[in-house]
Amino acid sequence: MSQFEPKIVAFVCNWCTYAGADLAGTSRTKYAPNVRIIRFPCTGRIDFMLLLKAFQNGADGIIVSGCHPNDCHYTSGNFHARRRWIVFKSLLDFIGFPSDRITFSWVSAAEGTKWADLVNEVTEKVRAMGPFEELKKLDDSLINQLSHEGITK
Ligand code: FES
Repeated sequence: MSQFEPKIVAFVCNWCTYAGADLAGTSRTKYAPNVRIIRFPCTGRIDFMLLLKAFQNGADGIIVSGCHPNDCHYTSGNFHARRRWIVFKSLLDFIGFPSDRITFSWVSAAEGTKWADLVNEVTEKVRAMGPFEELKKLDDSLINQLSHEGITK
């Protein structure tokens, strides 16, 4: 029987976490190959509706990561993302969505090892949780409703 391989989608900012992931690659740091990266200019630009869309399209776990506090290249985008995440997470918890499938983190351009450790940890955590099928069964109505409420933006 083949082992479940989690699909992890990482929403990262260009300036810190993407560069950190690049450093892990150029340093030949080995880590779980389960992650697919989506690069944004800044975590402040991430519409959290996209996280639900990723789950709907097959993700089993998600990482959101950007510059450390006070290191955002657009001054405060990461603070906006963190605030949005706190509200979004409480909404997910309220409706019974397993928000622990989403990991919010900070990884700088110099932290290739931290990126590799983060991917490994999230991959193993999600592997233990098993495949995430619930959102794949939904149509767009929940996501559209959340979007219209302005909660994910
Ligand atoms: Fe990295 Fe804003 S540029 S979080």
